[in-house]
Amino acid sequence: MSTQEKIEKMLKKTEVILAAGGEKRVAKQHASGKLTARERIAALLDEGSFVELDRFVHHRCTNFGQEKKDLPGEGVTTGYGTVDGRLVYVFAQDFTVEGGSLGEMHANKIVKVQRLALKMGAPIVGLNDSGGARIQEAIDALSGYGKIFFENTIGSGVIPQISAIMGPSAGGAVYSPALTDFIYMVKNTSEMFITGPLVVKSVTGEEVTKEALGGAMTHNTKSGVAHFAAENDEDCIKQIRYLLSFLPSNNMEGAPVVETGDDPTRVCDELTTLIPDNSNAPYDMYEVIKSIVDNGEYYENMKYWATNIITCFARMDGQTVGIIANQPKVMAGCLDINASDKSARFIRFCDAFGIPLLNLVDVPGFLPGTVQEYGGIIRHGAKMLYAYSEATVPKITLVTRKAYGGSYLAMCSGDLGADQVIAWPTAEIAVMGPAGAANIIFKKDEPAAKKQHTDDYVERFATPYIAAERGMVDMVIEPKNSRAVVINALQMLQTKRETRPAKRHGNIPL
Ligand code: HXC
Repeated sequence: MSTQEKIEKMLKKTEVILAAGGEKRVAKQHASGKLTARERIAALLDEGSFVELDRFVHHRCTNFGQEKKDLPGEGVTTGYGTVDGRLVYVFAQDFTVEGGSLGEMHANKIVKVQRLALKMGAPIVGLNDSGGARIQEAIDALSGYGKIFFENTIGSGVIPQISAIMGPSAGGAVYSPALTDFIYMVKNTSEMFITGPLVVKSVTGEEVTKEALGGAMTHNTKSGVAHFAAENDEDCIKQIRYLLSFLPSNNMEGAPVVETGDDPTRVCDELTTLIPDNSNAPYDMYEVIKSIVDNGEYYENMKYWATNIITCFARMDGQTVGIIANQPKVMAGCLDINASDKSARFIRFCDAFGIPLLNLVDVPGFLPGTVQEYGGIIRHGAKMLYAYSEATVPKITLVTRKAYGGSYLAMCSGDLGADQVIAWPTAEIAVMGPAGAANIIFKKDEPAAKKQHTDDYVERFATPYIAAERGMVDMVIEPKNSRAVVINALQMLQTKRETRPAKRHGNIPL
C-alpha cells in the first residue's frame, strides 16, 4: 500500500467514526431535542481548540454477535481543549452509537482523560447520555464503571469535576456523576435513576413516569442530587462554561481574578432600609447578595432545593467567593436537614479549591420537630459545624439579624474559625430567641410579667453588643458599608495560612 493509500485509508476510517451512529440516529437525536456528542463538545470548548484522543479505539467483545458490530468511537468522544483559554478535559457519550452504552473500551477512554486531567491539574467535564452498562459486555462493563468511580474519587478535591446529564443515566451509571462536584440536568431530556419505572412497579407497585422519577426538576427540587437545571443542551453547556469561570483549575491554583469594573468601596445605600423594624418580618437575602457583590452578579448552586439557605458563587473586587446565606423569606431561614447537607457540601467544595467563604447570617435556629429529629438533624447539622471548622480558607461572617443558639455557631461564628465576624446594628446574637428564653427562665410568671421580661431580654440580649463586648464580633458596621468592609477583609486575608494536625482524613458525620 502506498503512503497516499495509507493516508486515504486513515481518512476513510475517520469519516466513518465522525458519522457516529449514522444519519438516521443523528436525526433521531436532533429530533428529541438533543445535540450530538461532537456538537456538545464543540459548544463547550473554545472554537477550534478540541483535540480528540482515542478516536480509533474499538471494543473487543464477542458476546451475542458483538464482534460483527463496528461501534464508531466506542460510543464516547474524549479529549481536551480550552474554555476561556484554560485547559479542560472532556468526554461526551454518544447516544447514537449503541445508546452511548458503556463497555470496557468506552470506560477505558473515559478513565484515560480522567487520569490526564488529574496529572495536568485541569477540570474535567463529563457529558452523559447513555443507556448504562453495555449489556453484551457484562461484567467487563461493570468493571469499567468501577474504574471510573475510583478515578472520580481520587480526583475529588484536586480538580473540579463537572457532570452534565443530557439524556438517560440509569443504574450504576448515576454514580460517576454523583461522585463529581456538580451535576447539571437538562429539562425534559435527561433522567437519572437507580432503577427505571418498570422495575419500580414490579418491586414496590408504584406507578411513576421517567420524568417524575428522575427528571431534571425531580433531582433539582426533591432529591438534591442535581445542582443545576438547564433549559436545553445549549443552555447547559453555556452554564458549565460560566461555572468554570469562577473556579480554579485545581487545588493548588487560585481562581481567575476578573476585572469587573465595580468599585470595591461602593456604598450600598439600599441596605440601610432593608431590615424591617419588626424583627420577625421577612426580607429577601438575595437583596443583600445583589447589593454587595460585583455588579450584583452571582451564580446559584442548588437554587431549587433547600431554599431556606442560599449557596452561590460571586465575585468581590474580581475575586471568587463562595456565599452561604440564610434566607429569612423561607422557613424564617431556619436550618434543617437539607439546608445542612446543601451548605456543608458547598463549604467543603470551596475549601478544597481555596475559595474564600462569606457567610450571611440571619438564622433563628434549627427547625424543631419529629420529622427533623427522626431524620437525623443532629447528624446532618453536625456536617455544617464540621465543614466550617475544617475549612482553612478565609472565612468572613456577616450577621445581618438573628444568630441564635446552635445555628449561630453552625453559620460559622468566630469559635468555628471565622477570621472576621462583622455585625449590623440590627444583629441579634444570643443563646436563644427572646420568647423561648422567657418561656424557660420566667415560666412561672404571669403573662404580663413574662411579656415585660421578654421585652427586657430583647433590649439587653437581642443585639450585637454582648457578643461585641466579648470580642466575638470584630466590628459593628453600618449596613451600607458592607461591601467595602468585606472586600477589605478579603484583601487582608489573602495571605492566610492555617495548618492542622496531620491525619489520614477526618470523619465527617455522614
Ligand atoms: C446495550 C443498549 C443499551 C445498553 C441502549 N442500547 N441501552 N445496548 N446496552 N445498556 C441500544 C439499544 O439496543 C438501541 O440499539 C440503541 O442503544 C438505542 O436505544 P433505544 O432503546 O432504541 O433508545 P430509546 O428508545 O431512546 O431508549 C433509551 C433507553 C433504553 C431508555 C436508555 O435503551 C433502555 O432502557 N436501555 C437500557 C437501560 C438500562 O436498563 N441500563 C442499565 C444497564 S445495567 P439499536 O441497535 O436498536 O439502535 C447497569 C448496571 C451498571 O447499568 C452498574 C454499574 C455500577
